[in-house]
Formats: sequence, C-alpha cells, structure tokens
Amino acid sequence: MKKSLGAKTIVYPTPVFVVGTFDKLGQPNAAAAAWGGICCSRPPCVAVAFRKATYTYKNIVERQAFTINIPSEEYVKEADYFGLASGANENKFVTTGLTPIKSELVDAPYVAEFPFALECRLLHTIEIGLHTQFIGEILDIKADESVLAEDGTLDIRRVKPIMFAPDGRAYYGLGAYLGPAVSIGKSISERSTD
Ligand SMILES: Cc1cc2nc3c(=O)[nH]c(=O)nc-3n(C[C@H](O)[C@H](O)[C@H](O)COP(=O)(O)O)c2cc1C
Repeated sequence: MKKSLGAKTIVYPTPVFVVGTFDKLGQPNAAAAAWGGICCSRPPCVAVAFRKATYTYKNIVERQAFTINIPSEEYVKEADYFGLASGANENKFVTTGLTPIKSELVDAPYVAEFPFALECRLLHTIEIGLHTQFIGEILDIKADESVLAEDGTLDIRRVKPIMFAPDGRAYYGLGAYLGPAVSIGKSISERSTD
C-alpha cells in the first residue's frame, strides 16, 4: 500500500543546472536551476523555470538567451552558492572566482570551469504560475575534451554531474552503471518467447 505524500514537486533524478545570463549592463550572472530538462529532440530544446523575482528571469527576458552549465561534483559548493545569492546584489562570478566566457552564438556567458555548457536562444516563454518556463533551442554544446570518451561522446563518469534530492534538500553524485540503454530491455521479449 503506497502512502500519499501530497502534491509535491519531486521527481528523481532532479538535475542541478547553472543558468548563465547577462544583465542589461552586460554583467554576467549564474543561478542554480533544478526545475528543468530536455523537452524536444528536433529542434533540440531544453526548458528551465524561474520565478519572476530572480535576476535570471529578468536577464533571460532582456537578452532572449541563456546557457545551461553542468557542474561537476567538485563544484557542488559553487553550484549551491549560485542558488543562494542573487545577481541583483553581487557579481557571483567574482564571489566564487569562476570564469564567465561570452558565448559566440548566443547573448549569454558560460562557466569555463564546468565540464560542459548548452548555448540556448529563447524559443518560447510559458507562464505557468509561480514559475515561468523558458524553452531554449540548443544551438551548440561546448565541452571540455577531458570529459569526452574516445568516440567523442560525453562520458557521464568523467562529467560527474550532481543530482538534487528536493525533498531531503541534498546533493548526490552518480550511482553505479546499470546497463546499456535502448537495449537491456530487449531481453524481456526474448525471455517471453523462450
Ligand atoms: C539546487 C537549487 C536549485 C534551484 N532551482 C531553481 C529553479 O529551478 N528555479 C528558480 O526560480 N529558482 C531556483 N533556485 C533558487 C535560485 O537559484 C535562487 O533564487 C538564486 O538566488 C537566483 O539567482 P539570481 O537572482 O541571480 O537569478 C534553486 C536553488 C538551488 C540551491
């Protein structure tokens, strides 16, 4: 018998994104975002959702662009800080010592020290309620060579992404490898025809 937990905003896994934007004066900003994920394959799109009170909300509306940066485990403190402080009060790149790189494709900065970043132009803005969802078209991904596998794909074990547990308010690292995707399930139909 399952227990009802109420209408809560919990899914697992929940990502830890760091969204990079420029303000109207060109100052770079970075903010933590957990309410997001890939939302379309063609065109390639990703969604994030921000409260209007955030500096990032204003920056995305102003600049029509953002980056999504994936922090690795070693930057868990900085990623959390990006979710605690506001660009309205300080330059978080200066406070954390991390480096903003201006994207050549979109009007937004990405974080040099994080293993990879998605460069997005704003495609749709959806008013939901407390949060406004921004859907960005991914124009390119910039990745450090150190996180690429021999075949050029992003190696999740080298990226070491951070997982967020909203209910327990905690961060976790990557778990064990479970098997090949779009493949391991085939053994079920093979079993049923035995
Ligand atoms: C792990 C984590 C995830 C967060 N996810 C979101 C989110 O998805 N949307 C949002 O509006 N705020 C989110 N926040 C809070 C913002 O990051 C926080 O309000 C931040 O100060 C906003 O920065 P800004 O004012 O510079 O944009 C999150 C905070 C943390 C620590």
